[in-house]
Amino acid sequence: MADAMARTLADEDADGDVDGGLDRGALVTFTARHTTGALGGLGSVGLDIRPLRGGLQAATVAHVRVRRAGAARPADSTEFVVKHVRSDGATREAAVYEALAGLDGPPLTPRLLHVQRRGGGCDLYLEYVRPWRRWPWGDTTLAGRTLEELARLHAALATVGHAPGADWDYEVELRESAATTLEALETVTAKGEWASFRPAVPEMRRVVAALPAVRRRLLEAPSPGLEPGPIHGDVHPGNVVVARRGGCLRLVLLDWGRVRRGSPLEDVSSWLQSLGLWEPEAARRHDTLLRRYLYARALPDRLDRDLRDGYWFAGACNALAGTLRYHLAVADGWRSPGPRARADAARAARAYLRVVHRADACWRR
Ligand SMILES: Nc1ncnc2c1ncn2[C@@H]1O[C@H](COP(=O)(O)OP(=O)(O)OP(=O)(O)O)[C@@H](O)[C@H]1O
Ligand SMILES: [Mg+2]
Repeated sequence: MADAMARTLADEDADGDVDGGLDRGALVTFTARHTTGALGGLGSVGLDIRPLRGGLQAATVAHVRVRRAGAARPADSTEFVVKHVRSDGATREAAVYEALAGLDGPPLTPRLLHVQRRGGGCDLYLEYVRPWRRWPWGDTTLAGRTLEELARLHAALATVGHAPGADWDYEVELRESAATTLEALETVTAKGEWASFRPAVPEMRRVVAALPAVRRRLLEAPSPGLEPGPIHGDVHPGNVVVARRGGCLRLVLLDWGRVRRGSPLEDVSSWLQSLGLWEPEAARRHDTLLRRYLYARALPDRLDRDLRDGYWFAGACNALAGTLRYHLAVADGWRSPGPRARADAARAARAYLRVVHRADACWRR
C-alpha cells in the first residue's frame, strides 16, 4: 500500500516555491508511510509544500499538507514540517527531540516523526504546530510563561544522561565570532553614517579581549542554582510557537540546532533582549520577567549583583555570537533591505551595543 501511494505521490507536482534543499524522493516515501492510516489508504493524493519563514540556519523549512484529490481542505493529521539541516546542527537538533520525548508535562518541542540522514546533514520530519496567533507577544503573561517553560527545560535537560550539544566546542566558535563582530563594528563606524556607534568600539574591544575570562566567570562561578548545563541556545520570538489545544495554550520551542552547554542565563537573556526589541511592555517589565524565571527554578528572586553581572555577560555573549553582526550588516545595507528593515536593524544593533556596554561596565567595576 505504501509503495502504491508513494508512486501516486511521486507523480504529483508539489506546489510552492521551495528551494532545492528537499529530497523529494524521501519526502514522498515518508508521506506514504505517515499518511496511510490518516487517509484511509485511499488512492490519489497530492502535496502542498509551502516554505516557512526563517531559514538562516536551515537550508529549507517547509510545511507539507497532504490532500486527497478533490478534497477541499486537508485533514489536520496529514500535515507536517520538513526541515533540511546541512551542518552538525542536524545531529544536535535530532538528539534534543529524542532527549525530551519523555518529559513530564506538556511537550516542549514538536514531535519528531522521522529523521532521514543524508550527506553531512539530515531531513527532520516534525509535527506541525499551528500558531494560535501570528504575534501573541503583546500579552506579557505569555512572555512570562515562556520563561517558566525555559525553567522547566533547563531543569529537565540537566538530568539527561548524554546531554545534547555537549560535544560542540562553542567557546572556540564564540571567540571567532566575537572577533569578526568587532571588525564589523570597526568597519561600519568608519563611515560617517554610523558615527553614533563609535563610543561602542572601545567597550566592545574590552569585552572581546576579556571574553575567555568573562565566559569562565559565567560558567565556572555562576550565581547559585544557575550552573551551566544544556540550553536551547537560540531563544527568540521566531523560535517559540504559542499553540492552542482544547482551550489551553501550549508553548513549543522550535529550532534546536544551537543546543549546547551554556549558562541558563544565556537563554533567559536571549529571550528578554530579543522580545524587548519588539515589545516595549516586555522591555518595561524586564526585571519582573527575569524574576519569573528565578521563581520558576525555585531560586531566590533577588536580582543581586552576581545575578545581574551574569545576566549582562550572558547577553553580551549572545550579541557577539552573531546577532549583533547580523543587525549591523543589515543596517549597513547588506542584501539591500528596504528602509524599514534597515531602520529596525539599526535599532536592534543599538540595543545589543547597549548590552555590551552594560557587560563592560559590570566587568570593569
Ligand atoms: N514544527 C513546526 N511547526 C510550525 N512551524 C514551524 C515548525 N518548525 C518551523 N516552523 C516555522 O518555520 C520557521 C523556520 O524554522 P526554524 O526556526 O526551525 O528554521 P531556521 O532556518 O533554523 O530558522 P532561523 O535561522 O531563522 O532561526 C520558524 O520560525 C517557524 O515559523
Ligand atoms: Mg528559527
